[in-house]
Amino acid sequence: MRVLSGIQPSGNLHIGNYFGMMKPMIAYQETAELYCFIVNYHAMTSVADGERLSKGTLEAAMDFLALGLDPDKAIFWVQGDVPEVTELTWVLTNVTPVGLLLRTHSYKDKVAQGIAPNHGLLSYPVLMAADILLYQAERVPVGKDQQQHLEITRDIAIKFNGLYGQAFVIPEAEINPDIPTVLGLDGRKMSKSYDNTIEIFSTEETLRRKIAGIVTDSTPVAAPKDPDRCNLFAIISLFLDSEEKAELADRYRRGGLKYSDVKKDLFARIWECFRRAREKRRTLEENPGLIREILKAGARKARDKARPTLDLVRRKVGLVY
Ligand code: ADP
Ligand code: TRP
Repeated sequence: MRVLSGIQPSGNLHIGNYFGMMKPMIAYQETAELYCFIVNYHAMTSVADGERLSKGTLEAAMDFLALGLDPDKAIFWVQGDVPEVTELTWVLTNVTPVGLLLRTHSYKDKVAQGIAPNHGLLSYPVLMAADILLYQAERVPVGKDQQQHLEITRDIAIKFNGLYGQAFVIPEAEINPDIPTVLGLDGRKMSKSYDNTIEIFSTEETLRRKIAGIVTDSTPVAAPKDPDRCNLFAIISLFLDSEEKAELADRYRRGGLKYSDVKKDLFARIWECFRRAREKRRTLEENPGLIREILKAGARKARDKARPTLDLVRRKVGLVY
C-alpha cells in the first residue's frame, strides 16, 4: 500500500500534530510504501518571510527525523524540490469549481481571521490534491481538520478520471478514530492559530508553564469529578495505556483528586515520552548539511515516482503533440 502525508514548516510541532498525524504516519514506514514530505509551497500561504520559511523547512525535517522517520525506509523530501507538483496543480485547476474552493472550511476560517484572501489561499486544496494524486497515494493519514481537503482531492480525481479516462488512484483519508482531534490548553482543538499548544521540543521550563496553564474547572478537591468533561484528562490520556486511563478515571470519580497532581504526572510523562527524540534532535541540529543531503536524495526519488503520472496526464490532456 502507498501511504503519503505532509506537514507545513510553519511553526513548532505540537502534540496534536504528533498524535493526529506524525505518529500514525511514521509507523507506516515498517509496513507500507511511505511518502513523507514538508509542504513549503503550502506554507507560503501563511508565511511571507523567506528566511523564516527556509529555516522552518530544515527545522521540520529535523523534527521528523528526530521522531523516528527513517529516510532509508520512506521517501522523505521537500515539496518545492519536486516542481512537477505545480504543473499538475495547473492541470487540476481546470477541473476544480471555484464554488467548491470558496466553501472550504480552512479558507473561510482564514479569511474570517483577517488573512488576505489571495489566490494561493483559495487554491490551497488544489495544490494538496496534486501532492496526493501525483504519487498515486492510496491512504493519507491526517487529523480530522484535513478531512474536507481529502474529499476535495477525491472529487478532483474522480472528475479528471471521468473526463480523460483513468489517470489517478482515488485516495482515502485515514483519521485515527481514537484521537481525531487533540485538545489544547483551553479545551479547543490544539492549534498554532489558537496559541493553545503543548510543543514537543520546548524547554523544560516552557513545558511546565504550558502544562500549568491547562484550563480546569473549579470543583473542590474533595468533590467527585467527571473525567469525560475534563480537558486535562483528555490530554494526559494520550500518554496512558487503557488500564492507567481507567484507574485515573476512577480517581476522578471518587473525589479527592488534585488537578495539580495530574499536571505533575503529565509533565513527567511528556518529558519522558520525547526524551530520545529530544536527544536525537540535538545531534541533528549540529549537522544541517546532512539534513540537506537527505532531503535532496529524497527529492530525486520522489521526482522519479512523480514523472510517470505527469507524463500520463500530459498525454491525456493534450500537452503532448
Ligand atoms: P495547526 O492547526 O497547529 O496549524 P497543522 O494544520 O499544521 O496544525 O496540522 C498538521 C497536521 O497535524 C495535520 O495532519 C493536522 O490534521 C494534524 N493536526 C493538527 N492539529 C491537530 C489536533 N489538534 N489534533 C489532531 N491532529 C491535528
Ligand atoms: N494541508 C495539510 C495541513 O495543513 C498539509 C498537506 C499539504 C498535506 N499537502 C498534503 C497533508 C498532502 C497530506 C497530504 O496539515
